[in-house]
Amino acid sequence: MSNSSSFFSVRDIHAYYGESYIVQGVSFDIEEGEILALLGRNGAGKTSTLRALARVDTPHLSHGEIHLEGQPIHEMKSYQAAQAGIQLVPEDRRIIGGLTVEENLILAQVEEPIGWSIEKIYDHFPRLGERRNQDGITMSGGEQQMLAVARALARDVKLLILDEPYEGLAPVIVHEIERILMEIRKLGITTIIVEQNAVAALQLADKALILDMGKIAFRGTAKEVLEDKELRHEYLAI
Ligand SMILES: Nc1ncnc2c1ncn2[C@@H]1O[C@H](COP(=O)(O)OP(=O)(O)OP(=O)(O)O)[C@@H](O)[C@H]1O
Ligand SMILES: [Mg+2]
Repeated sequence: MSNSSSFFSVRDIHAYYGESYIVQGVSFDIEEGEILALLGRNGAGKTSTLRALARVDTPHLSHGEIHLEGQPIHEMKSYQAAQAGIQLVPEDRRIIGGLTVEENLILAQVEEPIGWSIEKIYDHFPRLGERRNQDGITMSGGEQQMLAVARALARDVKLLILDEPYEGLAPVIVHEIERILMEIRKLGITTIIVEQNAVAALQLADKALILDMGKIAFRGTAKEVLEDKELRHEYLAI
């Protein structure tokens, strides 16, 4: 059961697209600095859960409580959840075309509270520094993913939420993003990662949650999932 004194607590959330009932009573807790891998088959409701947590308009959150350091996120709109420190990096990355890499980062800092400085971002993402004057939308898929993560860090992030950060990327680029996420882990940023590449996500994560048809089918440590062949077979097809 969730405990609202946790750093991030999700208690019995339910969410709908119109009449379509998708997130069906999800509860979990994350402590500060932990990384949670949220896994499950296609259509299990992973993206919908992330969107509900970030208070994106759809799916509509009909019931449940979400607290970040005691702040009632379930009562907020998405921009308020972002101000409270929840930064969702969506699957499609949403890099703004016509703006350079640096302008994309500066735009993230227009609103208070701001997070990492541009210089700190370039220290951790040297490739973004090299390409600071390039139009963001002309960057490669991997570079755009780096920019999307960097943009989340440019805000005051307390909970970083990544939806399929490795999607469509070549293995060598996946390794580069993994390296960055390992660095972020060392800095103690609390993270939720959804990834089809379950092994990669589990290697990064402390805890794991498996969703099936909008409900939690398993909760435990990342290590337990890596070591449980049947569980991986049943829900992750690996
Ligand atoms: N905008 C929408 N309107 C109606 N139904 C939706 C919408 N978005 C998603 N769904 C449905 O909600 C269910 C869960 O979808 P969701 O995208 O959350 O799954 P997922 O676990 O992220 O899957 P994947 O691994 O393919 O990304 C699916 O049945 C999907 O068809
Ligand atoms: Mg998804």
